[in-house]
Amino acid sequence: MNTNEPNHHAIYVPQASSRRGFLRSSIAAGTGLALSNASNAFAAPGDQIKIGLIGCGGRGSGAASQALSSGNYNFKLWAMGDAHQDRLDSAVNNLSEKHKDQVDVGDRKFVGLDAYEKVISQCDLVILATPPGFRPYHFEAAVNAGKNVFMEKPVAADAPGVRKVIEMAKVADAKGLHVVAGLQRRYQNCYREALKQVKENGIIGEIVSGQVYWNSAGVWVKDREEGQTELQYQLRNWYYFNWLCGDHINEQHIHNIDVANWFIGANPVSAQGMGGRQVRTGKEFGEIYDHHYVEYTYPNGVRVNSQCRHQKGCENPVREEFAGTKGILYLDNGGRCYANDYKGNTIWRYRAEGADRKDPDPYQVEHNELQDAILNGKKINNAYYAADSTMTAILGRFASYSGKTVMWDAALNSAIQLMPNKVTWETVPPSKPDEKGFYPIAIPGVTKVV
Ligand SMILES: NC(=O)c1ccc[n+]([C@@H]2O[C@H](COP(=O)([O-])OP(=O)(O)OC[C@H]3O[C@@H](n4cnc5c(N)ncnc54)[C@H](O)[C@@H]3O)[C@@H](O)[C@H]2O)c1
Repeated sequence: MNTNEPNHHAIYVPQASSRRGFLRSSIAAGTGLALSNASNAFAAPGDQIKIGLIGCGGRGSGAASQALSSGNYNFKLWAMGDAHQDRLDSAVNNLSEKHKDQVDVGDRKFVGLDAYEKVISQCDLVILATPPGFRPYHFEAAVNAGKNVFMEKPVAADAPGVRKVIEMAKVADAKGLHVVAGLQRRYQNCYREALKQVKENGIIGEIVSGQVYWNSAGVWVKDREEGQTELQYQLRNWYYFNWLCGDHINEQHIHNIDVANWFIGANPVSAQGMGGRQVRTGKEFGEIYDHHYVEYTYPNGVRVNSQCRHQKGCENPVREEFAGTKGILYLDNGGRCYANDYKGNTIWRYRAEGADRKDPDPYQVEHNELQDAILNGKKINNAYYAADSTMTAILGRFASYSGKTVMWDAALNSAIQLMPNKVTWETVPPSKPDEKGFYPIAIPGVTKVV
C-alpha cells in the first residue's frame, strides 16, 4: 500500500477539454445517448469524479485508498457498499481517517447483496472488490450503467462468468469506458522492463517453457456462528467455496499464470494436471484443494508448469521463470528480476531507478494510470486479459479436478455455471454440506468439469 501522504497544495486540475470528453462519453454511455447528442452533459470546471467502492474488505479498502492517493484531488470517494454492515463500517472509518478531504460518502453507504446497484447508480468510477464469483455481474451492471471500472482479479469463478466479462469488455469499448484489472505485475516496472528485454532485445531468445509458482501457508478461516444461515457462513468464508472463489489456483495463483500468458503472448490450448487435499482436510476448508500442479500447453508446444500450494511448513516460492533458446529469465515481484545464459552468466539484471532502488508500488500505479486514462481520454481496457487469465486459472482447476487433459475451447465454452445469476439472502448456496458438515470434494477421474 502506498504510504505517501498526498500533497494538498498540488491540486491537479485536468484539462477542461479532456475532462469534458470523459464525462461526456461516460454520461452518454450511461444514458444510451449518441455522443453528438450529449452536449448538455458537459460538467462545469471543478466538478468531482465520484468513486464508488463495492466490497469494502481488505483489498477494496486498499484499492480505494490508492485511488485517493493519486494526487488527483477531484476524485472523491462518494459511495460505498458491502454485503455486511461491519465490513462497511470499518472501511468507512479507516478511509475517512486516512483521506478525510477526499471521503464524502454522507449517507451513501449501502449494505446488502443489492448494494452494488445503489453504488453504481451514484458514481462515475466503481471499484469492484467483492469475492470473484460476483465480479461478472457487478462488471455487467457497471458497464451497462456507463461507468468506468477498477476491478480486482480474478474476474470470475466459472466459465459462464468469464464469457460474460468478455462480452461486457466489448460493450465497455463501444462506450469508451476505462477498465483496469488488479493484476498488478502488469503495472510493475521490473516486469515491464523484463518484457521489453524479452520482446525487443531478445535476451533469452524464443520462450520454450516456463515455471510459475504461488506456494504459501494458506489464508484465514472464519468460525461458523450460531444462527448463521448456510449462505451467510459461506459468504464470510468465501475463499473455500468454488462458486465464490474458484479455488486458490484462481484466487492467488492467477497472478503468476497471468505473467505466463503475458510473456508468452497467448492463452494455453490445453492443460493437464493433478491436485488434492493432503493437509487441509477439515470441513472448515470447504471444497477447495490444498495443492494443484498443472502443465499448460501453449501454441507451438510451449509448456508452462504451474504449482500452487496451501500447506504450512513448506517452501513458499511466489515467482515465475521462463526458459528461452538463449537463456532463462527469473522474475519475482520483490524486484529480483534477471536473466542468465546457459553457462550461468547473468546477461541482464533489473535495477529500479530512484535513490531507494525500489519500484513504485504497482497497486498505486494501477490507479494512477486509470485516472490518467480517464482524465486524458486514453484508451485502457484490461478486462480482456483479466478474463483470459481467469479462464487459464479455471482451466488449471478443471485439469486437476478431472485428472484429464482439458482443451481451452471446451473449458471456455463450458455450460457448467457455479455462480447463480442472482444471489439474495434467501439463495440456497450451490455448494451443500452433507449431514456431518463436509462439502463434496472433486475426485480426479470421476468429477465432470466441462
Ligand atoms: N491484487 C491483489 O494482490 C489482491 C490481493 C488481495 C485480494 N485481491 C482480490 O480482491 C477481492 C477481495 O478480496 P479481499 O481480500 O478484500 O476479501 P475480503 O473478504 O477482505 O473482502 C471482500 C468484501 O466483499 C464483501 N462482499 C461479499 N459479497 C458481496 C456482495 N455480493 N456485494 C457487496 N459486498 C460483498 C464482503 O463482506 C467483504 O467485505 C478478491 O477478488 C481477491 O482475489 C486481490
